[in-house]
Amino acid sequence: MQTRVESVENLDTKASKQALADAAKIIRRGGLVVFPTETVYGLGADATNPDAASSIYQAKGRPSDNPLIIHVANPEDAAKYAVTSSLYARLAEKFMPGPLTVVMPVRSIIPKTVTASLPTVAVRCPLHVAARELIRLAGVPIAAPSANLSGSPSPTTFQHAVRDMMGRVDMILDGGASEIGLESTIVKIEDDGSLLLLRPGGITVDDLATLGCPIRVADAVMGALKPGEQVLSPGMKYKHYAPKTPLYLLDGTRDACTAFLLGRSSGEKKPRMAILSYTEDVSHFESALPAIKVLSFGSRQDERSQARNLFALLREADELSVDELYAPLPTANGVGLALYNRMIRAAAHQIIKLNG
Ligand code: TXA
Ligand code: MG
Repeated sequence: MQTRVESVENLDTKASKQALADAAKIIRRGGLVVFPTETVYGLGADATNPDAASSIYQAKGRPSDNPLIIHVANPEDAAKYAVTSSLYARLAEKFMPGPLTVVMPVRSIIPKTVTASLPTVAVRCPLHVAARELIRLAGVPIAAPSANLSGSPSPTTFQHAVRDMMGRVDMILDGGASEIGLESTIVKIEDDGSLLLLRPGGITVDDLATLGCPIRVADAVMGALKPGEQVLSPGMKYKHYAPKTPLYLLDGTRDACTAFLLGRSSGEKKPRMAILSYTEDVSHFESALPAIKVLSFGSRQDERSQARNLFALLREADELSVDELYAPLPTANGVGLALYNRMIRAAAHQIIKLNG
């Protein structure tokens, strides 16, 4: 398939406006458009067209039992596709447009290919201006998963989107690097008026708690599913966000990490190694471990920067031809919960507990 590539970084230009108008036409005709959002790049199609939605699964190589998020231009448009409630209105007022997705009972206008036959649909109104303008011009909700090939990290730059989707879609729009860098927070509105956190993201549990309603965190957010446990957000059961290089999370102080890696590099096997290091520790690791490649993850206290960098670094690490990649185990608070959730999956739960 021929893929057209256009920039929508500056919407004041005639070329960007034309590109968005053409992209909207492609969506209306049942085609596929990769577009930027503030979380990650999305792979979009008309959410009311079952054939268009099926072609998303094909382009990504995604199992068809993993439902899609539908994107709307305005929070109030959700009521056309889902049964909304007063709690939805409060969430929308506070956090939308933005990196929040809300799961609610679905209306019949949304085909089963989008919801994977669940009785619910996930709705999000992105903040990115080009994304919202695209949805508005298309005049239909846009179903969009992250625009990566199934199993690889979500694309947070135009270059990542091109790498995974060139030749698989009709058009790719360049909107620069994603501001947040991790996928949206997903909450389900429960019948009793509480929230169930299915996927942590840029909107944190503390942010949600300001609404005053009870919030439960789904077990799968923090770890593996227990045998027999029901999968509430089907995407959580798949190995996800994974680099090709095996990733190990180090749970210990900087000195304990240094000692562990020194031991590893002086052992018999001598694997080629790389580490994601907090910016403050980069020069320490470079001088203490000259054989190891050091990638700067962001400042220790600045979890938002780490979130913005993570997926790009996982892709970068795969280009280094190393045998093992290491990263610090994040603290599961605030935005750290989203980092923890993505990183334990990327590491396939390989956490190395170090003393000290
Ligand atoms: O930030 C985002 O949410 C990005 C951008 C493009 O908007 N999209 C995204 O989509 O991350 P995707 O398909 O990669 O992840 C959507 C997740 C999946 O884990 C899926 O199982 C879950 O949302 N999901 C979708 N519909 C659901 C539903 N009705 N109930 C529970 N989980 C649902
Ligand atoms: Mg995804």
